[in-house]
Amino acid sequence: MLDTLGNLERTHTCGELRESHVGEQVVLMGWVAKKRDFGVFTFIDLRDREGVTQIVVSSETFPDAHAKAKNLRGEFVIAVKGEVVSRAEGTHNAKLATGDIEIKVSELLILNDAKVPPFQLEVAGSENLASEDTRLKYRYLDLRRPQLQNNIRMRAKAVRAIREYFDNRGFIEIETPILLKSTPEGARDFVVPSRIHTGKFFALPQSPQILKQITMIAGFDKYYQIARCFRDEDLRADRQPEFTQLDMEMSFANREQAYREMEGMFNHVLKLIGVTLPTEWPRMTYAEAMRRYGSDKPDLRFEMELQDFSAELKDTDFAPFADVLAKDGEIKCLIVKGKADYSRKQTDELQDFVKRYGAGALAWIKIGDETTSSLLKVLGEEKIAALASTAKAEKGDAILIVAGSKSVVAASLGALRNEVARRENLIDRTKYEALIVTEFPMFEHDEATDRYTAAHHPFTSPMDEDLELFTTAVNDDSQHHLLGQVRAKAYDAVINGYECAGGSIRIHQKAIQDLNFKALGMTPESARSQFGFFLDALEYGTPPHGGFAAGIERTCMILCGTENIRDVMAFPKTASAQDLMMDSPGIVDEAQLEELGIEVSSDSE
Ligand code: AMO
Repeated sequence: MLDTLGNLERTHTCGELRESHVGEQVVLMGWVAKKRDFGVFTFIDLRDREGVTQIVVSSETFPDAHAKAKNLRGEFVIAVKGEVVSRAEGTHNAKLATGDIEIKVSELLILNDAKVPPFQLEVAGSENLASEDTRLKYRYLDLRRPQLQNNIRMRAKAVRAIREYFDNRGFIEIETPILLKSTPEGARDFVVPSRIHTGKFFALPQSPQILKQITMIAGFDKYYQIARCFRDEDLRADRQPEFTQLDMEMSFANREQAYREMEGMFNHVLKLIGVTLPTEWPRMTYAEAMRRYGSDKPDLRFEMELQDFSAELKDTDFAPFADVLAKDGEIKCLIVKGKADYSRKQTDELQDFVKRYGAGALAWIKIGDETTSSLLKVLGEEKIAALASTAKAEKGDAILIVAGSKSVVAASLGALRNEVARRENLIDRTKYEALIVTEFPMFEHDEATDRYTAAHHPFTSPMDEDLELFTTAVNDDSQHHLLGQVRAKAYDAVINGYECAGGSIRIHQKAIQDLNFKALGMTPESARSQFGFFLDALEYGTPPHGGFAAGIERTCMILCGTENIRDVMAFPKTASAQDLMMDSPGIVDEAQLEELGIEVSSDSE
């Protein structure tokens, strides 16, 4: 028989009691984290969200309570009444905030029992945790772990700090709908069928982009929202199909003003973990970031910049390199300090790693007692020495080299830089390095279709300096390729190698928006059918405006020091976009499908 709570009221949490409470009668409630039987005494670690308190039940003084205590197992829910006492000499626990006291129990209620959990909650070190799939299936148990409790509470604090920041600066929180029309952010839409309008669909917002711009047209001047976004895209360690953004927009603002708000907001939020970043963060153009780090989100907690060998090798007769250079490609490298002793196995592993990013091979030079290199035979000793000196590599260093198209070299060496830093422990985890990356390209070229897509989204303004180039490239078919050179007023906030926010100054004049849709290969008719409402709105006095959106999860990953986005979400999806606890997505019953006018084809089952 389980006990009932009756009128009993909790007086304290399990993280609250200290030496100063000794002598008080208290009531605590929580979960049994651990139980140890020592004959006359049973010790229980009682846990709630605030911490753990040690409970002692004696068969001599309170036999009823002791008899119940003997039946307890992990995760039973209990209430205890008793006196706070000082722990005996030598049994204080410095690891627990409540470690100086324990509760001498006079009454114990078993409020609920619990099945044996499918995995152990109390383990030392995350490497000993049960598999993530098991934990996601029983997420309510996983969430009881103090680490996840802390992360989820940190997230709540971060969102509160963000609201505080924008409220204090005159921004107005405006909610926008979830049942919407397609909002292009470069991913696939999640669609929702309409029952009332059979055969028609809503799209869930990939972001509130168009609507926040419309709040500017509507005269709200400064808007923000903690907004849910939905993107059907390939998942990575820092991506989820459903995530949350701080979304903001401001009128009459230039880029510097937008940067100031990004810096101000993140600086305010990072105070939660006692981190002070400079008021003004370093700025770096996209072109410089790609050149120096091979990445538009460089992790500046360590150096290891890319070095360029293209000039040094311009006359090479080694065919693979000569071919790359003839096709406007590059040959670049990384210097790994002190790793001249890389084994064949290690360089092979690193080669496999860069191949995932499209690199054909990874060449190396090791400057040990003598210099060895995978290129020695083809380039000769003299050239190898010249390359080492160009790269300013020193004795003891390894040089890792990739040749290929500019995008492959950047992608593979940019990723290799992070990988080597991780393997060699080059990252100081106590450091926080932020920067704003500016002047992103306006378009990305899709080789397969030979089309240009918006690098940020189709509402991003070209840079004033590139407006003429943009206009020529759109209007003159023979100059279309110049689109690849147009820079946008787009920017990202990067912290510790994570793209934490992205934004832009928008196009606010209809003629330029029309041009941009044309650049993206849309006919006036298709632009009108998708965005007619927005094109109309642009014609009713649209102020210049811009803004950004910050990933709440990415921000919390920084705050909580985790590289797994699921650690900062209460109910995340797996890497294959499933909710293992609810077992979704699931099937819908026939009648519901019929009502929606939807037939599921047999090959999709
Ligand atoms: P963007 O697409 O760059 O811009 O997104 C802004 C920020 O949202 C976060 N983010 C994600 N976080 C988790 N999972 C995902 N799948 C995911 N995708 C993006 C990142 C990113 O920097 N409407 C524009 C913003 C604007 O122009 O104002 C937008 O959504 O931290």
